[in-house]
Amino acid sequence: AGVFTYDPGFTSTASCESTITYIDGEAGILTHRGYTIGDLASKSHYLEVCYLLLYGALPTAAELEEFEHTITHHTMLHEQMVNFFRGFRRDAHPMAIMTGVVGAMSAFYHDSTDINDPRQREIASHRLIAKMPTIAAMAYKYTIGQPFVYPRNDLDYASNFLRMCFAVPAEEYEVNPILSRAMDRIFTLHADHEQNASTSTVRLASSSGANPFACIAAGIACLWGPAHGGANQACLEMLKEIGSVDRIPEFIERAKDKNDPFRLMGFGHRVYKNMDPRATVMKQSADEVLELMGVEDNPLLQVAKELEHIALNDPYFKDKKLFPNVDFYSGIILEAMGFPTSMFTPIFALSRTVGWISQWKEQLSDPAHKIGRPRQLYLGEDTRTYVDIEDR
Ligand code: CMC
Repeated sequence: AGVFTYDPGFTSTASCESTITYIDGEAGILTHRGYTIGDLASKSHYLEVCYLLLYGALPTAAELEEFEHTITHHTMLHEQMVNFFRGFRRDAHPMAIMTGVVGAMSAFYHDSTDINDPRQREIASHRLIAKMPTIAAMAYKYTIGQPFVYPRNDLDYASNFLRMCFAVPAEEYEVNPILSRAMDRIFTLHADHEQNASTSTVRLASSSGANPFACIAAGIACLWGPAHGGANQACLEMLKEIGSVDRIPEFIERAKDKNDPFRLMGFGHRVYKNMDPRATVMKQSADEVLELMGVEDNPLLQVAKELEHIALNDPYFKDKKLFPNVDFYSGIILEAMGFPTSMFTPIFALSRTVGWISQWKEQLSDPAHKIGRPRQLYLGEDTRTYVDIEDR
């Protein structure tokens, strides 16, 4: 002991060098390849941001067209993979299905598991970004007992996803452009967030030379936890549990009570000690979608608004710098769109896939990269004499 830096939760350890995403938590700044998230969310769109994250620069019109063509033409799953879904119970959580199905991609697309071939890395990246919405939508359709809706290559990324989730065979389904834009924004705002728990998991898995599908499955598994990507589901469930505005003070008191494990879900962030810049954009989207859906009178939203107001003004939350985070607002939007809470984290996972895969690519091309191997402070027994079982 004593020779290692003890840093539980890695709050002060830089595990890699990266040129992808920059966060200044104190100032509330998030940039991807130098562009602010505010600019990207308002002026760009998800697939362009995917290109930016993957390749380091905004695409030209021709580059974007080619990239979009590649992605939209890889959206279909191998038909045998479709059978894989049917092995799950109908009441399985879609995240459980996604972890399994994405891990299983290495068995279906083993040509692109060769991490030493840059062309194959490229194909694996495109396959993952293209197929993730199909996987998430199929997981959803399967759990609600509806037939799968296959991807349509003429639609944009977000509209195609909404259609695969909400269309029913033999019925017309028109994607509302406001919803499609809000969906695209949710994808964009979740695209990358430097070395968070799931991204670090992807990098750690990859450091052993694991194949890209296995690494992304590891990222999905980590993202599922309620302190990370599971927070949007946990947040909506909390709003439902609170139920009405008059019950809020009781929950605020519980959140402040050190002896009560309850926390206000959707509040606080490890890095942002100021308003999360993604939350600011997401809040605007939430207002737009709620106006469209005519659910201004939704009691959940009233609880959310009041909770936001109290938390922003209460000394406990102010002193500890606990602001509403991106999941607070995304949960509200997804609820208004008609997604069940169990789909919130799968949507986060599909959005984050590009971030994971960009970080994975960056790691593999870093000549300094080596297997991740944290050490520990051993606090156990000194060497002891083994005692035979009859003598214990
Ligand atoms: N409600 C009430 N108190 C809180 C909360 C909360 N949501 N978050 C933190 N605190 C308190 C905590 O009790 C602690 O108090 P004290 O200093 O008196 O012991 C202090 O604030 C610092 O908390 P921490 O747990 O040391 O902070 P952290 O940086 O380790 O945790 C967090 C960050 C996001 C895990 C935490 O704020 C939390 O559990 N929030 C609720 C879950 C959530 O919304 N997560 C989504 C994060 S954003 C999306 C993503 O990145 O996946």
